[in-house]
Amino acid sequence: MLNELDKIKEDIQKDITSLSILQIKGKYLSKNGVLAVMFKNIKNIKADQKSEYGKTLNELKTYLEDRIDEEQGKIKIENSNRKIDPTAPFDVNTSKDKRPHILDLKGSSHPLMQELEKMLDIFQRMGFDILESRQIDDDFHMFESLNFPKGHPARDMYDTFWTDDGFVLPAHTSTMQNRALRRLGPPPIRVVLPGRCFRNEATDASHEHTFYQIEGIYVDEGISMGHMQATIKEYLEQYLEKDLEIKMQPAYFPFTEPDVEFVISCPFCNKVGCTTCGNSGWIELMGCGMIHPNVLTAGGIDPQKYTGFAWGVGLDRLTAIKRGISDIRKLRDGDINFLRQL
Ligand code: DAH
Repeated sequence: MLNELDKIKEDIQKDITSLSILQIKGKYLSKNGVLAVMFKNIKNIKADQKSEYGKTLNELKTYLEDRIDEEQGKIKIENSNRKIDPTAPFDVNTSKDKRPHILDLKGSSHPLMQELEKMLDIFQRMGFDILESRQIDDDFHMFESLNFPKGHPARDMYDTFWTDDGFVLPAHTSTMQNRALRRLGPPPIRVVLPGRCFRNEATDASHEHTFYQIEGIYVDEGISMGHMQATIKEYLEQYLEKDLEIKMQPAYFPFTEPDVEFVISCPFCNKVGCTTCGNSGWIELMGCGMIHPNVLTAGGIDPQKYTGFAWGVGLDRLTAIKRGISDIRKLRDGDINFLRQL
């Protein structure tokens, strides 16, 4: 039995260099560990050897505990020399081969924000100011000031989300028109208003409940549909880096008169027909029109003296077109593998 204790001491000497402290404690000092078994054995030792066995076993235990203390001391010194990086995306105790690949963790701005910046840059160079929209608004700005009186059937076109106390999540950036007219008037007023919008609708590859729009407003004396057509065309050609053919189709919005759907020739297939344009050769991009006199009046602008145009373009849709993304929901589901490909 005493020989066996010598053998255990040898094992400890070997293990202390090759096993972790946790493993050593588990192997030797746990409830069913090697030493516990040896202590239980005392009752089987012959009476004349009992005291020596007990003494040797206790010495062995002390020896092991000292070695553990010694090893822990070494680790403490190592750790205190190590610089801690609180931004490290892993625990320093994680072994190197199990750490995530740091190169893959580089951050970058979201593709939607990258495209938004490009668009705002184009508008700024064209002479537009920028005013950010808001994410919660009221009935006046969402409807009344835009010529949708209470009970107007066109309110149904903008089914969005309401809070219990009667506020609304904007269904379009046109909610900013009244504020922009009041704040920036008297004309000339040239401003773009980017913002987040919300609609209570089922989602599919080209519809989301949350999306971005950029509203644009241009008001001055003598402004016509011709100015509108040229301004929007110029912006789209600069952004899509392509000469485009355009069409203006009739549409309906209570806040414009006349109301137009702005349509461009498909920048990918030159009107031959492809998946992006649904084989039609054309893409309906945005609503626009001449600002309704009632909207100008609500904004403190005299419609006898001034005219203006406005548009609301969807950022997600254009980003998807430009970057060849077939499902706009991908832009919001946070799938990092998808975002890395862009
Ligand atoms: N707000 C409209 C929408 O989201 C788009 C729109 C149409 C904006 C005409 C305008 C406009 O400024 O004049 O459906």
